[in-house]
Amino acid sequence: MPTYIVLIGPPGVGKGTQAKIIAENTGLPHISSGDLFRENIKNQTEMGMLAQSFINKGELVPDSVTISMIQNRLNAPDCANGALLDGFPRTPTQAKVLDEMLVQLNGKVTYVPYISAPSDTLIERLSGRLTCRAQGHIFHGKYNPPKVAGVCDLDGSELFLRDDDKVETVRHRIQVYTNQTAPLIEYYRQRDLLVEINGARPIEEVTSDLLKVLGTKQE
Ligand code: AP5
Ligand code: MG
Repeated sequence: MPTYIVLIGPPGVGKGTQAKIIAENTGLPHISSGDLFRENIKNQTEMGMLAQSFINKGELVPDSVTISMIQNRLNAPDCANGALLDGFPRTPTQAKVLDEMLVQLNGKVTYVPYISAPSDTLIERLSGRLTCRAQGHIFHGKYNPPKVAGVCDLDGSELFLRDDDKVETVRHRIQVYTNQTAPLIEYYRQRDLLVEINGARPIEEVTSDLLKVLGTKQE
């Protein structure tokens, strides 16, 4: 049966950072709804233009748009053995639809690691985040600095500050998370899938806990 991992946690807790490491370790494709939207914005697709107006305000993109984007992605051939979902589902409606989608794919949600950290930690991480223009690789000025300032270590592209990482927008994103996404914690706890991980520790310690949860061996 395919493996579907759903990473839950507030903005800036390290979902993307951890997902990239775990994807490499497990061989599962990393599906980040935020990255997919940003790719569409970069390519100026119709969906990208629609999503941009919500993302820049720190609001969620409407469920209908998000759900069909993820459904297409999960049906791609590289997801035959499952996927690592980062940023989806984010509302109770998305969680219910995901359950239905996975039935169609002869699978179900396998693990739900829930990474948490206090709000001041999230704000500090997002205000120092540097994102790579070409492929979305993630750095931090203090906690995970690139070897050469302003340049991605992995593909040499420019590092930039995300528009939605301004402090006021970050505060709103955290509020939106609390109101609309936090209810998913209960949804998955009731289904016995939730595993809580303390994200207020160095990147390697969080990775080590995640790998234990997923039952894979650390290299
Ligand atoms: P999305 O891109 O998913 O943003 P997010 O959930 O707000 O999360 P972030 O990407 O900001 O943080 P992260 O947890 O990935 O942290 P990261 O690893 O980068 O979504 C953006 C927008 O798209 C949403 O606001 C919404 O509009 C829309 N959207 C997306 N999905 C949607 C959906 N399903 N429905 C509707 N709308 C949707 O780390 C942050 C920083 O901290 C980095 O600099 C990193 O280097 C550093 N760091 C990471 N871990 C540590 C650590 N342990 N110690 C120190 N520093 C660390
Ligand atoms: Mg992310």
